[in-house]
Amino acid sequence: MHRTTWVEFNSKALRHNAAAVRRLAPSAAILAMVKANGYGHGADWVAKQLHNMVDGFAVARFSEALNLRGSQAQKRILLLGTELNGEQLQECARHHLDVVIHDIDTAKELANTSLAEPITVWLKMNTGMNRLGMSASEFAQAHKLLASKSTVAAIHHMSHFSDAETADHSTTALQYQRLTSLSHSLGDVPISMANSAAIIVHPQTQLDWVRPGIMLYGDDPSSSLPAGSDLQSVMTFKAKVLAVRDLEAGDAVGYNRRWQSTGKSRIATIAAGYADGYPRQAPDGTPVLINGARASLAGRVSMDLMTVDVSHLPTVKAGDVATLWGEQLPAAEVGQHCNTISYELFTRITERVERIYL
Ligand SMILES: Cc1ncc(COP(=O)(O)O)c(C=O)c1O
Repeated sequence: MHRTTWVEFNSKALRHNAAAVRRLAPSAAILAMVKANGYGHGADWVAKQLHNMVDGFAVARFSEALNLRGSQAQKRILLLGTELNGEQLQECARHHLDVVIHDIDTAKELANTSLAEPITVWLKMNTGMNRLGMSASEFAQAHKLLASKSTVAAIHHMSHFSDAETADHSTTALQYQRLTSLSHSLGDVPISMANSAAIIVHPQTQLDWVRPGIMLYGDDPSSSLPAGSDLQSVMTFKAKVLAVRDLEAGDAVGYNRRWQSTGKSRIATIAAGYADGYPRQAPDGTPVLINGARASLAGRVSMDLMTVDVSHLPTVKAGDVATLWGEQLPAAEVGQHCNTISYELFTRITERVERIYL
């Protein structure tokens, strides 16, 4: 087996994190976010691991919903806000997909479309994110229009928080108030607002359905989990050391000679680069583990390779294993160095990287 660059996925960690969601939100139903191929972890695999722990799954593209329906015949699958004409609504109904209706025109289209099976809709209100969602008046109009339709099996109400992970709670409170007050005026309808950060920081927003994404994969975007409810990395990105060399003061490493040795040093060259999904913008000093010990990126990340200062790790040799993020090195920490977030790191692992499911 010629294995130089791979990601390991830990099913125990995934289930541990789902159990943490269950503990933090004991009375809400759980819609696990498996869009973007399960945040890069493999949607089918994630759904299989979580099948008995959650109440449904959510995806962002019709193709993702169809793929998932192939392995999840019975489970609720919600197709998040997308473009839906009459024909596409019919297709969603045929595949028993729940759909998010985020504009009044789609609500009207649905009201005038005959479906083979009734469909469950999640009406989305724009409570302040100004991305997708209806205004209060459109939302109320859509609700009244669809509530009486025999083609609509059930209605849910939803919105999405823009700032749930930040220290200022005022925007979250306002968004929560906007949806809940309007929803309550329209009847007794299941409501969904909370993403991971809201589940952790704003438990009052858990309502009927929570929608955890990143916390299932091991990151706490709010950095405020109570002690004892730790999350575990599900994805660990690993690569082999291909070479180790000794350098003298003044020697430089990699493209544009960005890192220069100030004295005697040792550099390990690792089989991962931006074509594998490691961020090219990673600066010198970005942490990497080699045989479990911390070291720092030294020099520009190239397409297939990256270089790490291992001057303090004299036993490192070709064939050793580097961890680029995951167990012992949270992706969020690497993301902070690279001016990005774990979400982006997870979803950017490229096709050529071998996937190993543990
Ligand atoms: C509509 C919606 N709900 C929930 C989530 C889950 O968010 P998180 O991964 O921060 O928990 C997302 C993710 O972007 C989303 O778009």
